[in-house]
Amino acid sequence: MTTKRTGRSATKSASSLRPHVLVMHGPNLNLLGSREPRHYGLATLDDINRALAGRGETAGAHVETFQHNHEGALIDRVHQAARDHVDFIVINPAAYTHSSIALRDALAATAIPFVEVHLSNIYARESFRHHSYFSDLAVGVVSGLGAHGYELALEYALRHLQNRTPHGSQKTEKAH
Ligand code: DQA
Repeated sequence: MTTKRTGRSATKSASSLRPHVLVMHGPNLNLLGSREPRHYGLATLDDINRALAGRGETAGAHVETFQHNHEGALIDRVHQAARDHVDFIVINPAAYTHSSIALRDALAATAIPFVEVHLSNIYARESFRHHSYFSDLAVGVVSGLGAHGYELALEYALRHLQNRTPHGSQKTEKAH
């Protein structure tokens, strides 16, 4: 019998203190730029991803981006992230926010900390968008700040990961 490791039990290799962040985009976000700009703005997904990758480079982090329209592909990507020892996920689950217990379970199974991002303010829209299957598991939620929300989430992730000690625990943050 073979066993697959999908949890966070494996320790990272010596070279791996370089922060590794995965930015995930759910269905229809490939259409950003032309899709309902009054909700989602004019930035394309490429614009957003390029800005995030650039920020990652400046910070000496490995920032990967992934978009898919299919639930299973997103779930598989989360499993892959655990095998790759991804440290942090920034995710806009898009419409799966409101429907996907399976994607939620994948994030719970891997226990990779994540921030949930929405371009639009989901609480100012239709009531079916007010419930998220992710928010209670997320470290935090950014909603309504457009593409800037991804940058803020990445900034948080980088800062959080810079506070790591070589043994993977967090330094205690000083109160200001
Ligand atoms: C979204 C909000 C969701 O309700 C919607 O289904 C999306 C995008 C956002 O970024 O504002 O596709 O996640």
